[in-house]
Amino acid sequence: MNPAPCGRDQKRWRAGVLGATGIVGQRLVHLLSHHPWFELTEVAASERSAGRPYAEAVRWHVDAPLPPEAGDLVVKHLEPSLDCDFVFSALDSGVAGHVETEFARADYPVVSNCKNHRMEPDVPLLVPEVNAAHLDALVEQKRRRGWDAGFIVTNPNCSTAGLVLALKPLADAFGLEQVFVVTLQAVSGAGYSGVASLDILGNVVPFISGEEEKMETEPRKLLGAWDGAKFVDAGVRVSAQCTRVPVQDGHLECVSVKLRKKASPADVREALRSFEVSAELASLPTALRHPVVVLDEHDRPQPRRDLNAGNGMAAVVGRVRECHLLDVKFTLLSHNLVRGAAGAALLNAELLAARGWLNADRRPAQREAPLPTEVVSKN
Ligand SMILES: NC(=O)c1ccc[n+]([C@@H]2O[C@H](COP(=O)([O-])OP(=O)(O)OC[C@H]3O[C@@H](n4cnc5c(N)ncnc54)[C@H](OP(=O)(O)O)[C@@H]3O)[C@@H](O)[C@H]2O)c1
Repeated sequence: MNPAPCGRDQKRWRAGVLGATGIVGQRLVHLLSHHPWFELTEVAASERSAGRPYAEAVRWHVDAPLPPEAGDLVVKHLEPSLDCDFVFSALDSGVAGHVETEFARADYPVVSNCKNHRMEPDVPLLVPEVNAAHLDALVEQKRRRGWDAGFIVTNPNCSTAGLVLALKPLADAFGLEQVFVVTLQAVSGAGYSGVASLDILGNVVPFISGEEEKMETEPRKLLGAWDGAKFVDAGVRVSAQCTRVPVQDGHLECVSVKLRKKASPADVREALRSFEVSAELASLPTALRHPVVVLDEHDRPQPRRDLNAGNGMAAVVGRVRECHLLDVKFTLLSHNLVRGAAGAALLNAELLAARGWLNADRRPAQREAPLPTEVVSKN
């Protein structure tokens, strides 16, 4: 993780996590425990957990100890009266839609992992390395909805997150016409009680409800443009088949692409390997300068070996070769809970902070000292 930017005082943005007891929520709690810009001040979850100390309410699944300062927090109800500057949402999608709207209406910036608002015509579906310019849609979102300091920004579905990182350099270099993808998705992608062990141990389930639809639509929005009034679809055609496999963490994807301009596997490998983010993005604490890692070994990537490449924020690509149906095919791995969820939301929040979207002094009475008004790049 990149160090704290210089030129800032000790004051950090205060973050709340909605759905903090879930698999994604606890990843956020873990990542926030050593974050240079953000400080976890509130955790909230369902009525089952509210009122209990976080350490007691959560079934901790991160391979690191529960941060003691988080464990002592009392889990709050999902009411927009939390003591924080913005919230992450890692709520079950059954409740995320209206809860996120309530928080945004009550002036909280909402950085969401959930599907509910992703495809709305004024909500950025954001992967900073791919479409940072989509943040401009927030001006229109606030205007249309009459919101003041509040807004909603989302990150994509966990399989889409890794996929678009690999597609972006190809779209830029060669143009992208068609994508065919088959996923092998880990069980943690279904949340804590998502897949019964008797259904998945020694088995593969060739259906994940709603997943193929998300993978076929979200990349088109992500790779498209914001024209000042609306999102313009990228036009690429995507066909997805999604399966659940008995792997704990890490979604593997077998991808074939049809390109506008002719390119060899070597050209594609080079475009992926040389993909580099802007200086603005590279200065964010969770960002990688090269978010796509290309492996040359014939049997990689593998979830167990490559899951944590780039602290879990990399899209790891291997087996780049000719495709006899489309043009080029490859295998891709990304960490569904980090790149596909908690890390993605954290990176989105960092970009929002760096661009001044989190600077609004929402409730001055509760603030001890002024927030920093600018983020100075460390590079
Ligand atoms: N897992 C992934 O890889 C992944 C990746 C990208 C996006 N997402 C999305 O992120 C969100 C969280 O996923 P997850 O895997 O962390 O799920 P999870 O483990 O099932 O956690 C769900 C969270 O929502 C809360 N919740 C559940 N039902 C509720 C209700 N009726 N009212 C209020 N709160 C309720 C739970 O609180 P209690 O503990 O108190 O019940 C828990 O904190 C989902 O929308 C999911 O689609 C997940």
